[in-house]
Parts: sequence; structure tokens; C-alpha cells
Amino acid sequence: MKDHQGRRAVRGIGPRVCALVLALVFPVAAGEPGEVAGLILTWQRDPSSTMTIDWHEASPLEKPVLLHRRKGTAAWKSSTPVASGFPHAPGRMVYRVELTGLEPDAGYEFRPAGRERPYHFRTMPKRLTRDLRVVVGGDTAPAGTFEKINAVAASLKPDFILWGGDYSYSDGKAGEIKKEILWHENIRDHLIGADRRVIPVIAAIGNHEVNSVVAPYYEANFAFPAAETYGVLDFGDYLSVWVLDTNHRAKIAGKQTEWFTESLAARAKDPRRILIPVYHVPAYPSVRKDEGTTLDVRKHWVPLFEKAGISTVFEHHDHAYKRTHPLLGGKVQDAPAKGVTYLGDGAWGASIRKVRPAADVPHIAKSQSVNHVFFFEFGPDGPLRFQAIDSKGEVFDRFELPRRR
Ligand SMILES: [Fe+2]
Ligand SMILES: [Fe+2]
Repeated sequence: MKDHQGRRAVRGIGPRVCALVLALVFPVAAGEPGEVAGLILTWQRDPSSTMTIDWHEASPLEKPVLLHRRKGTAAWKSSTPVASGFPHAPGRMVYRVELTGLEPDAGYEFRPAGRERPYHFRTMPKRLTRDLRVVVGGDTAPAGTFEKINAVAASLKPDFILWGGDYSYSDGKAGEIKKEILWHENIRDHLIGADRRVIPVIAAIGNHEVNSVVAPYYEANFAFPAAETYGVLDFGDYLSVWVLDTNHRAKIAGKQTEWFTESLAARAKDPRRILIPVYHVPAYPSVRKDEGTTLDVRKHWVPLFEKAGISTVFEHHDHAYKRTHPLLGGKVQDAPAKGVTYLGDGAWGASIRKVRPAADVPHIAKSQSVNHVFFFEFGPDGPLRFQAIDSKGEVFDRFELPRRR
């Protein structure tokens, strides 16, 4: 997978010196006593044996240590995190530990040393012998409906979350740092919540992460895919998830598509493997016109999805609900097994938009201006089972798609 060693070395030196100075200048930690300022779990490689934990502190710790143990065991193991300053937030620190050598499909507890109440997570199965539960969405926003949908997502108890870009709407700007801090607080308080179970997230980049050519908060928030902004994670022999960059930091045409072509072809050889791409700007938008990056996705990636036998992809950016008919080359097919179904369009917490009239988009089976998440489940056999769920927790669409076409 991606090698972040270079970035770690660069980020690790400055902040430690900074930490000493800031500890003197800002001696009082903000936030609730005993609570971290933010907490994000993701994977940089094998989800069945690793976990990357980022915890945020409002002010630097003198001696940061992360403790973890397998649930049901007594002894805590300690790890020293890599420390980085959070962009444009003097004193705020991100402490990162990648745990490796974990047991598959197993529960773990963890806590920063000095805090008593542990959080917990679960690794993914190496082989699929049970149902996997996934929540998918994008365009989260820092507050408002975000909190409600976070609570809905947490109540579904997914194994992990797929996010398709546009998080706090800070646009990577120094002056919008408050949105980042609020976004983290709402994840901590509503997505993690009272049971302290932390759901790992795999997060693609959106246009609102980028300020000109940099995405400082996105890179700081998500260890994967971080500065490279696209990558793939393989789950045992049963699933691969790609996060792709729709012209935000990496261009669609060129190096990214060359990499995606090879990466996809290698994994598509195994007919049992479920293939799921996640990206921001839709090929088949429910709100916006068919122009710009949409046409790039259609030109460069849609033929790859079709050739690889992908059943479904997740798109975002338009702030509405969308499910297309199964499509090949933009033409409606008469059965899900004959085309790619495009699901979207990113309305986790962001303000919803008015969808295009049905007559203008005959390739869209259902679209609706509604905040929502997708909840999808699959087991060792059988179809992918989907529900679209709104901010009240009500199911308003339900369908099945084949694992592969
Ligand atoms: Fe958005
Ligand atoms: Fe967007």
C-alpha cells in the first residue's frame, strides 16, 4: 500500500519542538474533561490485521502513549504515536498509531494513557463467514443534520463507513478551522457516541477539501489515502474498495487512471471478489448538468467499471438521493446483472438540492431531495442488499444488486 514514511518523518520533528513551546503558552486543555478532541479510525493496509488510530488533543501531551488490548484480556500493550500539529490550529495535535498483527474479526479496546474509559473497535474478517454491514454516504457538513445522520449511521452498527468527500466544508482554508473542530466534535459525540464503539472510515476526497492545490485538513484527518488522494484496500479474498480523486488534487486522466486500470484488472480476475469504487463527482448526476468532471468520469472510468464486471459504484457531490437503472454506456439495461448501477449523490448532512426532472434523466430509476445514508449488507453468498435510510432512521428505498455482473 501507500508508503507514508517520508511524510511522517517531516511531520514528526517540527510538532514535537512546537509541543513544548505550546504546552507553556496554552497550559489548559479544551473540551470535556477526559475526552479526546477528535478520533478517527481508518486502514492503511489489511483491514483484518491492522488499524490506524488518530486521536486529537486540544493541546500537546507531554508523553503521549496509546494503550490497547484484545477484548477479554487483561494486559494493555503500549504504543508511542507519531505526533503532528493539526493545520491552522495552534496547540491542537494529532497522535497517530498504526496497530499491526491484530487478530481478524476480533474486538479490541484502546485508550490514550491517562484516560480511564476505553474506546473499542473490531477488525474485519479475513474470510467472509458472516454478514458484513457497511454504511455509505458523503457531503457530511460540520453540524445540523450531520448529528442526526451520524446517530442513524451508528445505530446500524456497521463494520465500517465509506465516505465520498466534502466533509466540513472548510475548503482547506485557515480561516475555516472552526468548521473542522466542530466536525470532529460531532463525530466524537454522535457517530462514536455513548457506547464508545469507533467505526472505521474509508474517505475519498471532495472539492471542499481543497484550497487551490492543497488539502491540509483532509491529509491530516485521514491516514489513508492521505497525500496521494487515491488508493485501494483489499479485504481478504472477498472485497476491494477504491477511493478515487475526481480532479480535486489528482487529475482523472493520466497517472491515476493508469493506476486504476491495472489495480482493477488485477482484482477483477477473481470472480468472487466484490469491487466497490467510491468517488466524489458523479458520472450520472441527479442535480447538476452533464458537464465538466462528470464527462471525465464517463470517458475514463465508466468503460473500466463495465469491463471489470462491477455491479455498483458510489458517487456524491450533488446533495440528493439517487439510484440509476443498470447502465452500459449510458444505456438502460433491463436487469441489474447486465449493467452498472450508480448510487448517490452525497447527502449525509449537507443541505439538500432539488433534483432534475425525471424526463431529463431517464437513466435514473429514483431520485429525491433527502438527507440519507446507504446501508448495505452482504454475506458469503447471495446478492448485495441495500437500504436507503433518512435522518429519522426511516427506510425509503430498498433493493438488491448482484455481487458481480
Ligand atoms: Fe458537497
Ligand atoms: Fe462536492
